[in-house]
Amino acid sequence: MTDTAQTTTDARTPWPPNARGTRRTFPPSSRAVDPATVERLLAAEWERFTTWSGGSGAHNERASKSLPLGVTSSFQHWDPYPISVQSAKGAWLTDVDGNRMLDLSMGFGAMLVGHLNPVVVQHVTEALTETGTLFVTPSPQATEMSERFCERFGLGMIRFTNSGTESLMYAIRAARAFTRRKAIVKIEGGYHGGYDPLQVSVKPALADIGPADAPIPDVPFDVEAGTVHVVAYNDLGQLHKVLAEHGRDIAALVIEPVVENLSIVLPDQGYLDGVRSACDEHGVVLVFDEVKTGLTAGYAGAAQRLGVQPDLITLAKSIGGGLPLAAFGGRREVMQVVVDGRMAHFGTYNGNPLVMAAAKAVDEVCTHEALDAAEAVNVRALEAIDAAIAEFELPCHTVGLGVKGCVTWSTTPVRNYRDYKATDFAMAELSWLWGVNRGILTPPGLDEQWLVSLAHTAADMATLIDDFRSLAQALRA
Ligand SMILES: Cc1ncc(COP(=O)(O)O)c(C=O)c1O
Repeated sequence: MTDTAQTTTDARTPWPPNARGTRRTFPPSSRAVDPATVERLLAAEWERFTTWSGGSGAHNERASKSLPLGVTSSFQHWDPYPISVQSAKGAWLTDVDGNRMLDLSMGFGAMLVGHLNPVVVQHVTEALTETGTLFVTPSPQATEMSERFCERFGLGMIRFTNSGTESLMYAIRAARAFTRRKAIVKIEGGYHGGYDPLQVSVKPALADIGPADAPIPDVPFDVEAGTVHVVAYNDLGQLHKVLAEHGRDIAALVIEPVVENLSIVLPDQGYLDGVRSACDEHGVVLVFDEVKTGLTAGYAGAAQRLGVQPDLITLAKSIGGGLPLAAFGGRREVMQVVVDGRMAHFGTYNGNPLVMAAAKAVDEVCTHEALDAAEAVNVRALEAIDAAIAEFELPCHTVGLGVKGCVTWSTTPVRNYRDYKATDFAMAELSWLWGVNRGILTPPGLDEQWLVSLAHTAADMATLIDDFRSLAQALRA
């Protein structure tokens, strides 16, 4: 699909435009929502939640005895308990109470091709019944997928891993081996999985991180972070300053090209080009974390869509069709560190034929046409929600990239973590819970986005639009 035209703020506003190929739309006018109404609706919605989800409550009680918080990853938890899901097909889930829910989380974006996509099922079944699941030797399956992904994402070389966390860890180690430097720079508020240096300033409390123009890294007690510098997203001035002062010790800058762990935060026009040149100037390896963007941002990911080439890229979620597949790769010169032994990259399960089968299916079904069609469904949903926001003059706006979208409860653009912290979290919670109570599951954090998978139809998205309109009516009643 041709890039969605930028639809950001009008000429009267002082904000820089967002990058081409991204979408952010504000209503012509907005009015505050009465906080007492929000509080009343939230209380009623939490009461309603317990009336239909008793099975999930009981399941969480049982699970909490053997699994901390009753979940297998802390992100899955919310109070009083999350919805436990029994099965999923296409765009729909069935919970343990037998409720059918529209899945707009889609495994935090990992299920881009839809649950039980028939092509994935076919390829994986072949691996399970005919070719085998694990050789721990070279295989034509892994080689073919390396060739396909290098071609698709414009990479010199690639290595497969099993999770985004692992890919980020190896990307940083490759950058260190390549530059013979140790420090890294990351974006304030950015999440990149569980590797120690990337735990710095993930979602820090404002009280702990100093002034906005000179952020102080927030290092959790339980990690050994090494030297990590933190800069605000969309602030080239801060990046230049850190690089001027510490550039000769910095191996890598790790950044999501579009930040998808603070809802969706778009790059200003020219920002990523500026990041690229700053890294070049100081010999710093630019790592684009495309674990969340990846195929959800377009056929070849966000880097290609936005026209800025990193040195290394990390991929996970959407490339695996629901199986645990991730990867890191990029410029041949940097990946050479693995070839000549400056860095070793290991993993028993890397590129196993089972996940390679799923990856091949994903590569086959994620054609330009299929992704364009899903993006068109997303754009139409965003437009309908924009119309509702304008009609009810709500104090929020929409942001979209590829097949993802979100409503951000702010009347000004969110351009970095501090802006995100100033958004209306009570409204974000109400909007999320309103959907959950009406059979629409978006991710539990208030910093996530919906995903239109290849299995979602315009009729499915009409459910979200109707739900949003009913919330708007309740807020203005
Ligand atoms: C941007 C980003 N990077 C890395 C990760 C870590 O990926 P994984 O959960 O596969 O370890 C995530 C997970 O949500 C992510 O959103």
